[in-house]
Amino acid sequence: MDHPWFLLILFLNFPIGLLSKETVKATVVVYGAEAVAETDENFVCATIDWWHPSKCSNQCPFGLSYVLNLDTNHPHLAKAIRAFDPLRIRIGGSLQDQVIYGVGNSSVSPCLEFQESENGLFGFSQGCLSMNRWDELNSLFNKTGAIVTFGLNALHGRRQIEGQEWVGAWNSSNARSFIKYTISRGHRIDSWEFGNELCGRGIGAHVGAKQYGEDLIALKAMLDDLYVNNSNKKPSVVAPGGFFDQQWYGELLRVSGPSVVGAISHHIYNLGAGVDPSVIDRILDPSHLGRSAETFRDVQLTVQRHGPWASAWVSEAGGAYNGGSRLFSGTFVDSFWYLDQLGMASVFNTKVYCRQTLVGGNYGLLDTITALLWHRVMGKRVLGVEHGGSPFLRTYAHCSKQKVSINT
Ligand SMILES: *[C@@H]1O[C@H](CO)[C@@H](O)[C@H](O)[C@H]1NC(C)=O
Ligand SMILES: *[C@@H]1O[C@H](CO)[C@@H](O)[C@H](O)[C@H]1NC(C)=O
Ligand SMILES: *[C@@H]1O[C@H](CO)[C@@H](O)[C@H](O)[C@H]1NC(C)=O
Ligand SMILES: *[C@@H]1O[C@H](CO)[C@@H](O)[C@H](O)[C@H]1NC(C)=O
Repeated sequence: MDHPWFLLILFLNFPIGLLSKETVKATVVVYGAEAVAETDENFVCATIDWWHPSKCSNQCPFGLSYVLNLDTNHPHLAKAIRAFDPLRIRIGGSLQDQVIYGVGNSSVSPCLEFQESENGLFGFSQGCLSMNRWDELNSLFNKTGAIVTFGLNALHGRRQIEGQEWVGAWNSSNARSFIKYTISRGHRIDSWEFGNELCGRGIGAHVGAKQYGEDLIALKAMLDDLYVNNSNKKPSVVAPGGFFDQQWYGELLRVSGPSVVGAISHHIYNLGAGVDPSVIDRILDPSHLGRSAETFRDVQLTVQRHGPWASAWVSEAGGAYNGGSRLFSGTFVDSFWYLDQLGMASVFNTKVYCRQTLVGGNYGLLDTITALLWHRVMGKRVLGVEHGGSPFLRTYAHCSKQKVSINT
């Protein structure tokens, strides 16, 4: 074997017999000759969300740890991000499409936070990101070396016609001023993501794939224009950041055409609602966990067929939705779900996997070292692996990150 590799073995559950010292043998075969897939060098990613403290449908889990308020000077935060050297961070979430950037001639003055609003999307008004705050966030990213994906406000300028349907072209003028400002301050952005959960049937709001594809062409042209003098570090376009819908995603890629979208992003919440106490049963049920493979495979096929220039990303995944599970998302057992997802996503050639959240909600990563463990030991080359044992045994193999020794 040419390369050292690392084998991840997860035991979801110990049958009673095992606890009473019976031994069950299983043979694990790793196909080390060639990789079956390859992730990005920085596959592990964590999100920072816009959710407000008064998002209370699941016991107000976000508190003050959201984009507009997170304490960017907290020493533990900087230390934790730095430990990854580097950590990929995606800024986004449900309220992102209602964000106005407080720059240039934006219509919002003064630049105010989200307010609760009965008629607003998700119960909130528009909210404003001040450039002071944007500088503070970037100062944290700069000093910790984070690789940043920022989600843009893809509803800006559209009209809501019926139910959740929004029509009309994206108005890019506020985003343009914002990106221009970002470049002028030397803030480094790895990629700009367009919209949050507006695809398919949408969560809260949806936009047709044809319109979305046309807007992406405009966004790409705008970035090419604004970054014309930064040719060596031009950010890529990531979209659409929502739940996978084969037809919608295919059409998006057909309409936007070659080399517009750098990464097709989708979201996964496969453990049910955060308030549901049976989240733990799903975490420990191999057939339930295995169902995500279908989504990963379908995304991979859609990219191969309609957009081979694009890579596939998970730009948000939290296990249990709506803030995570208060009982389980921050505990050891959640690692079984998370590691299994990281392994499975890799096998289907997913390049980046963003975990909701870095901090905030019930699923904050800062409470665990699971992500760091993966980031440090699992290299980007994914190997085939098989075993004939119990389905509770989950195995994934990658070449090691550091080529020092063979780890099993
Ligand atoms: C802002 O508005 C002023 C006056 O309305 C105009 O002169 C200026 O060009 C505008 N700036 C931008 C960046 O659009
Ligand atoms: C941080 O900012 C400084 C000054 O703009 C720049 O030289 C440096 O490359 C930045 N570091 C990172 C990791 O972005
Ligand atoms: C786009 O939005 C800006 C404010 O961000 C507004 O001034 C402008 O009139 C809008 N353009 C169109 C075509 O609606
Ligand atoms: C790029 O550089 C040229 C020459 O210095 C300058 O005229 C132009 O305004 C710059 N473009 C942008 C978008 O900054």
